Amino acid sequence: MTNLRLGNPEIASFDADAVVIGVVSTDSDVGLAPGAESVDRAFDGGLAAVLAGLGATGEAGEVTKIPTFGKLAAPVLVAVGLGASRESFDGETLRRAAGAALRVLAGSGSAAVALPATTVEEVTAVTAGALLGNYAYLNYRTGNGHKQPVAEVTVLSEGVEGADAALRRAEVLAESVTLVRDLVNTPPSDLSPEILAETAEQVGADAGLSIEVLDEKALVEGGYGGIAGVGQGSVNPPRLVRLAYDHPEASHTVAFVGKGITFDSGGLSLKPADSMDWMKSDMGGAAAVLGAMKAIAALAPKAKVVGYLAIAENMPSGTAQRPSDVINMYGGKTVEVLNTDAEGRLVMADAIVRAGEDDPDLIIDVATLTGAQLVALGTRTAGVMANDDAVRDRVVAAAGRAGEAAWPMPLPEELRKGLDSAVADIANISGERWGGMLTAGVFLKEFVPEGVRWAHLDIAGPAFHKGEPYGYTPKGGTGAAVRTLVQIVEDVAADGL
Ligand code: BES
Ligand code: MN
Ligand code: ZN
Repeated sequence: MTNLRLGNPEIASFDADAVVIGVVSTDSDVGLAPGAESVDRAFDGGLAAVLAGLGATGEAGEVTKIPTFGKLAAPVLVAVGLGASRESFDGETLRRAAGAALRVLAGSGSAAVALPATTVEEVTAVTAGALLGNYAYLNYRTGNGHKQPVAEVTVLSEGVEGADAALRRAEVLAESVTLVRDLVNTPPSDLSPEILAETAEQVGADAGLSIEVLDEKALVEGGYGGIAGVGQGSVNPPRLVRLAYDHPEASHTVAFVGKGITFDSGGLSLKPADSMDWMKSDMGGAAAVLGAMKAIAALAPKAKVVGYLAIAENMPSGTAQRPSDVINMYGGKTVEVLNTDAEGRLVMADAIVRAGEDDPDLIIDVATLTGAQLVALGTRTAGVMANDDAVRDRVVAAAGRAGEAAWPMPLPEELRKGLDSAVADIANISGERWGGMLTAGVFLKEFVPEGVRWAHLDIAGPAFHKGEPYGYTPKGGTGAAVRTLVQIVEDVAADGL
């Protein structure tokens, strides 16, 4: 973990391996963002001209690294673009700028960040962006050829009212997102359902949460046909984990349900190779629920929160479920499994029914559920569906404030018919070709307890980043949905439902 501190904004004399300032694009040229004044004085007012000479424009995402030749105590200056010159900058601009700066500083011992942050929200954004950009997954790297993250980060926002709490909040969020990234990045051979459940137990115990784990025997005996059915083809048996957080002054209960397929081969409905190689990320929803529970325990909002992790490995074998098998779900409904690759909705449905037993005011499920989510919204934007339009819009708004891209999606009634089964209550895939993300949502809706508000986040794209790093987002596991889930609980704790 990064060593994080608050420092004095007189940066010219600050002793670190590098300092980070913001630059903006003005009508004619590159300009300095607020916070860079003392650095500019050390450059005799000529810093913008130096940066312009190097081709800097101040556009968002641009990073310019220069030596300071003794003009500053720090030997390296990083100027990071914030886009058009403005009075103040939104959270996501600050997070991305701080993240991009820390990424280019990997391998340095220490960095001081002097981006424009004069409110609690801005300091939180800069700090979280810096910590998240400073992420590297090195568990499977050998030798010394791989750059370590910056060991010590100082945010030069001392004097901002509430800055200490802002740093703490950013650190809590970043630690949880980091946990999720690490879990998603872990090779599936080292993250069986059993290991994921044990990790959740450990994290939950450290956070002071109450914990319950159902193993394969308890799942079969308890009637969890969805989780047991998906897991039956693997030598690594399935699990259902329940974590609970309770504030004594809570007036609302929120239940989270996360998809925890530790590897999705498709089962007997086997995936093609190029769709399979990133399916270690198929537990991203369960990891996000775990991360959110950890952060919530630390932030202590006035709410009751339960988190379910529906965990299985989806493998083809002689014991695997067959296309056309009928399974008995938790709560008694029957499902005809026409395609074993539509496994996420099976494990999720069991856990959603079970979550109803906690008497929640709101159920939010998070799942890397469909390739159709990527077709509809691309790789970075989560789809949000719900059985209540106001809840859906609140979830989308919470995501926006947390700095996560999400978009409202419908659950058209007419899609239910395509899920009719010739033999069971419902089939797990539809005869209708179009709108696959929505069909999966319509399937889950059938299992939501009567009268309970529910929202569904499809994070198939956002959970895992295959492209080059940008802002504070690395290659691989992203930690998607953690910040959104935390934000929703804080909103419900503050404003009710
Ligand atoms: N885990 C996949 C969905 C997925 C695809 C996640 C790409 C991340 C990236 C899910 O279990 C799946 O295989 N869904 C099928 C459903 C289909 C058989 C109805 C899909 O989307 O193809
Ligand atoms: Mn699948
Ligand atoms: Zn899956």
